Amino acid sequence: MEGFPKDFLWGGATAANQYEGGWNEGGKGVNTADVMTAGSITVPRRVTYRNVKTGETGSVVAFGNVQFPKDCIPAVIDGEYYPSHVASDFYHRYKEDIAYMGEMGFKAFRLSMNWARIFPNGDDAEPNKEGLKFYDAVFDECKKYGIEPLVTLSHYETPLQLTIKYGGWSNRKCIDFFENYAKTVFKHYEGKVKYWLTFNEINCMEFAPFVAGGLSDPSPQNKAQAAHNQFVASAKAVKAAHEINENIKVGQMLAYQPIYAYTCDPNDQLKVMEMMQTTLFYSDVQTGGHYPAYRLKKYKREGIVLDTEPEDFELIEKYTADFLSFSCYGSTTVTTHEDVAKSGGNFMMGVKNPYLETNAWGWATDPACLRIALNTLYDRYHKPLWIVENGIGWDDKKEEDGSIHDTYRIDYLRKNIKSMRDAVNIDGVDLMGYTMWGCIDLVSAGTGEMKKRYGFVYVDRDDLGNGTLERSKKDSFYWYKKVIETNGKDLD
Ligand code: BG6
Repeated sequence: MEGFPKDFLWGGATAANQYEGGWNEGGKGVNTADVMTAGSITVPRRVTYRNVKTGETGSVVAFGNVQFPKDCIPAVIDGEYYPSHVASDFYHRYKEDIAYMGEMGFKAFRLSMNWARIFPNGDDAEPNKEGLKFYDAVFDECKKYGIEPLVTLSHYETPLQLTIKYGGWSNRKCIDFFENYAKTVFKHYEGKVKYWLTFNEINCMEFAPFVAGGLSDPSPQNKAQAAHNQFVASAKAVKAAHEINENIKVGQMLAYQPIYAYTCDPNDQLKVMEMMQTTLFYSDVQTGGHYPAYRLKKYKREGIVLDTEPEDFELIEKYTADFLSFSCYGSTTVTTHEDVAKSGGNFMMGVKNPYLETNAWGWATDPACLRIALNTLYDRYHKPLWIVENGIGWDDKKEEDGSIHDTYRIDYLRKNIKSMRDAVNIDGVDLMGYTMWGCIDLVSAGTGEMKKRYGFVYVDRDDLGNGTLERSKKDSFYWYKKVIETNGKDLD
């Protein structure tokens, strides 16, 4: 049994809107995640709004096609609870948290930069110095422990003013604002940050355009345009990064999971193929460099006409992502047969797979998923890959003595890491790293809950925002430390 390459980037991943807090501190502006309420497995998260003429307030379901009533704009409403505002309070506790990561031996820490902390309104002429200073302090702290930051420029958040003033990413002006933001931080953190990602789970535009692109009008035309604008912005970011320093690497980030057909009915296989196209369209463009024929045909059928500039396609082709990163938590099983029971999935609902276990949120844990995902993506693009999210949400219980025995998490990670090891050792996939999702407990993106915990470190906070925010190590903390120490050889 072989291990992993010697410079393999083991670590953990977080996102500002779920982890950082300090939502109105240090000159930060409001972003789209700051107007999202908490929910649960049965109650959806909502986006709150205010009518600018009457002052009346209301809300709409966040993970869906958000559309605001006439004269209403997304807004923070008094008396509502917004999990992003404090989250896990990394803003004030980054030293303690990075020390935990250092103790586990992390080689990489994926975090997202809060765009509105750098450009509070998104379209500002100058960056917010205090915001830049905060991440300087974070990256300096990482350096102390030899941890390489991997920074997502936009993880499910857009400065709220870009939604209010411009309608979000369906407006081409966002390309320029993002380019300016990317250039500013690439230059400012040159020498401190080598690895960047542009948009988290860019394909989420299909299902949740407000979350993925701050869209206030989710028509199919606008979603297609917003995706195009993000592709052009990503290409411009790659170009800018390489011009600043050729060692900077800018990756794509895709939400990916293997999709299985529930039956051998050819119609089920066709369903799998079409669902795969919906996901892979995003990597075909951003990593592959071309709009695929299946998507162009779809746009034609649906009467979608993109507003493009002549250089868009040249940029997309020339400045593809340096590497492809993705999230993968399990697999989805689908069918055209309506009598099969439904089960939950990672934003892509499927049916219950009798061979797989699910967690309390209905997510199917699949020991083979990483090997399958890695092979599919490597065969298609032949570019280095990076698993930037994988993990399991669980309502961990703290014992009287403060210990947390998360054996289910260790078991899940063991199987997943083995699967990833097979992809490297048996199949020869070029894999750069693995950052386990939510390495320190944070707010769930899907439900806004705190109790859907992923971390190696427990954070004392509940779904209503109560708790001391005190940190405690779980059993998985010690297990992962050993995994890193042995470079993935000892998974027992
Ligand atoms: C990914 C997102 O889809 O899944 C993360 O990039 C998210 O932001 C993660 O937290 C897990 O999903 P959830 O809903 O359990 O938080």
